[in-house]
Amino acid sequence: MKMENGMNFEEVLKSKTDRAERVLFKYMPEETGFQKKLLEAMNYSVSAGGKRLRPILMEESFLLFGGKGAYIEPFMAALEMIHNYSLIHDDLPAMDNDEYRRGRLTTWKVYGEGMAVLSGDGLLNLAFETAAGAFSLTEDENELRRIAGAIRILGKKAGIYGMIGGQCGDLEAETALDVSREMLTFIHENKTAALLQAAFMIGAVLAGADEDEVGRMEQAAYDIGIAFQIQDDILDVTSSTEILGKPVGSDEKNNKLTYVSMHGLEKSREEVLRLSEEALEILGSFDRKNPFLEELVRSLAGREK
Ligand code: IPE
Ligand code: IPE
Ligand code: MG
Ligand code: MG
Ligand code: MG
Repeated sequence: MKMENGMNFEEVLKSKTDRAERVLFKYMPEETGFQKKLLEAMNYSVSAGGKRLRPILMEESFLLFGGKGAYIEPFMAALEMIHNYSLIHDDLPAMDNDEYRRGRLTTWKVYGEGMAVLSGDGLLNLAFETAAGAFSLTEDENELRRIAGAIRILGKKAGIYGMIGGQCGDLEAETALDVSREMLTFIHENKTAALLQAAFMIGAVLAGADEDEVGRMEQAAYDIGIAFQIQDDILDVTSSTEILGKPVGSDEKNNKLTYVSMHGLEKSREEVLRLSEEALEILGSFDRKNPFLEELVRSLAGREK
């Protein structure tokens, strides 16, 4: 698909990924002081690459609603910091006990468990410090109010009624005797969809979208998030460590409850497609359009890593 500026989708995606990384690195700490080791561990995990999907989705949502201004940038960085912290902790022996991430040893394998715990904590705190920095980028009353609202969304969707809540369900389901479909939905909605919802909602809120529009973006990100996790679970069964950069078979090893283990591969693939169609319908229902964002959502349904 040709995008407006003559580049194809992959080229535009690459340039947006590079931009998300530049924004992120602007806010990462210099490795000096007595806590140097911790800062190294934080930078190690963040600089290993990754799709940078959440900051990209956030900015595209911002653009969809006509957003302008640099105060989106601290939020893009903050959300990617939170995502990276969630991965550092997710890989710990006490959780998924995984040794590879993005083609490199996991943070705990390189720096030890204690330092990995702290580097996750460090990223989480730095995320809110960074997001709060947006207040000094504008003096406009409306924008200041939107920034306050965006910080609240970030806290909620990353927290006990979001990602952390979902990780709790994910851990408990490992040893539960009987797990329901509702529980599986709870886990996906929170451990994965919540941070994607934060991306879409914050982009929309900062751009000045109204409550109904933000609600529809929340629903679109719900669909994309559930589809994203089902695809992650499919790849955990069908892909290879070389392509994924992280171990395959991790879910079976940990006795995880996944959509694939509950419904099988075929049904899982159908569900990924159904959910992304649903998300695309929502994105197509706004007056303004964002063809790149729509293409990105389409590409996620068939992603291989
Ligand atoms: C991995 O997220 C964790 C899940 C929610 C499935 P990503 O697949 O976005 O990981 P990176 O950032 O690209 O490595
Ligand atoms: C990840 O789920 C969810 C979060 C990190 C919040 P997974 O445990 O399936 O993610 P991967 O496969 O390790 O990336
Ligand atoms: Mg996990
Ligand atoms: Mg994991
Ligand atoms: Mg996984």
